[in-house]
Amino acid sequence: MAEAPRISFSPTTAAKPGGSLVVFCDDGLKFGRRATEALGAAAALVTRAAKGEQFTGKSGSVLELILPEGLKVDRLFVLGAGKVADLKTEDVVKLGGAAMGKLPKAGEATVVADLPAAGKTGGMDAGQTADLALGMVLRAYAFDRYKTKRKADEKPAGKRAVSIVAADVAAARKAFAAREAIAGGVLTARDLVNEPPNVLFPEEFARRTLALKKAGCKVEILDMAALKKLGMGALLGVGQGSRRESRVVVMRWDGGKKGEAPVAFIGKGVCFDTGGISIKPAAGMEDMKGDMAGAACVVGLMQALSSRKAKVNAIGVIGLVENMPDGNAQRPGDIVTSMSGQTVEIINTDAEGRLVLADVLWYTKEKYKPQFMVNLATLTGAIIVALGHEYAGLFSNNDELSERLTASGEATGEPVWRMPLSSSFDKMIDSKFADMKNTGGSRAGGSITAAQFLQRFVDKTPWAHLDIAGTGMDSRQNEINKSWASGWGVRLLDRLVADYYEG
Ligand code: BES
Ligand code: MN
Ligand code: ZN
Repeated sequence: MAEAPRISFSPTTAAKPGGSLVVFCDDGLKFGRRATEALGAAAALVTRAAKGEQFTGKSGSVLELILPEGLKVDRLFVLGAGKVADLKTEDVVKLGGAAMGKLPKAGEATVVADLPAAGKTGGMDAGQTADLALGMVLRAYAFDRYKTKRKADEKPAGKRAVSIVAADVAAARKAFAAREAIAGGVLTARDLVNEPPNVLFPEEFARRTLALKKAGCKVEILDMAALKKLGMGALLGVGQGSRRESRVVVMRWDGGKKGEAPVAFIGKGVCFDTGGISIKPAAGMEDMKGDMAGAACVVGLMQALSSRKAKVNAIGVIGLVENMPDGNAQRPGDIVTSMSGQTVEIINTDAEGRLVLADVLWYTKEKYKPQFMVNLATLTGAIIVALGHEYAGLFSNNDELSERLTASGEATGEPVWRMPLSSSFDKMIDSKFADMKNTGGSRAGGSITAAQFLQRFVDKTPWAHLDIAGTGMDSRQNEINKSWASGWGVRLLDRLVADYYEG
């Protein structure tokens, strides 16, 4: 992994020779008081350069000055923040990302967390300062573990250290502690999704979740014997063509009131999806290493919640399998019995995620009687056709949970879009031979019939399904992510918990 930048907070600008200085301005080229102080005599230079470059401080624009006269630093970056009064949380996070994107791969940088007349008092408050730092950490991530032949000029020469000049250092540090826990969860999710499938198979994935114990999270791994005993025939059917054994992992964080029903998060963890006997075409199949992005998000979320000691009882349950063609693989036409007792006729072995989730959802509901269940899954290609890479599909049997997820998605910049569920779609998965079949039989409403299938395994529990096939991997890169894996959902669900289920 690219080494994480060292972030510290300081009350004053102490820019050393050789480093970089970052300041922010609004779309009227105005600076906050502390940014003005940091610029000192170089302020006039900035005004001249801005004219020459037609830099007006528009959101997303950058003015770059090398060896600015009157300053000790080698580089000065002036980042436009646009209209300061309109800045939302998400914009400040992205501003931090944009700043990090400008900094060299090594060396020291001073970032003046200041804006003109933002809020009542002007400047940036502690929360915004911490959001800025969060954006910097997320942007600095790169998955380069397997790059061994970097040329000398591509290798970072040393560490990256960022000193953030904050109005109230103690408050900024405190606000950043929670953001750091969340960032850690996002980066864990990205790592898991980026790892190649020969390295990250179900048993290894399960082993890596044990790291959560450090943060006080309880981790239980269910092995093949346990899964057979529970009767998880749908999940086990998917994994039976693989040389790798299947696993289910239960993570538990008890930070809430004793005895209070937990909130539950469930993830699809298909470590590689070949399609099985209904095999996928070769082009792009390598992307199916990311078919465990739902499970990765759940692990990242549980890490975030336990690291920041969230005042909630939360359960994370992930179903880990590998979907392979083999002499022992499941066939189209097979009928499997799920843990719920309901039987499923397999029509297409590539519709495997719903089979895994069927058993994991049922198990979670039965065993933990949660307040609600939210599952995440790279479930259907059809959701990419419908919503592209910007929105995740939301399917739910509960309006309140849907509204909360929508609001949390808006707030964190991980938006979701609600899709319908109805009995007319449910009928499409009735089977001639079993209680249901695992596809709707045609491509029509493919994401919806998949969701209808899941709904048959949740009973009356308030439940939401997030189809993240478009957002969990290979999504549009942005100011806070330049990696293939996005870590999508960790920030959204952490926010959901923080805003509605803590305390
Ligand atoms: N993992 C895939 C869905 C997927 C596709 C995720 C592209 C990410 C990018 C899923 O298991 C799958 O194969 N779904 C099939 C369902 C079909 C056979 C009913 C699909 O979407 O084509
Ligand atoms: Mn599949
Ligand atoms: Zn899949």
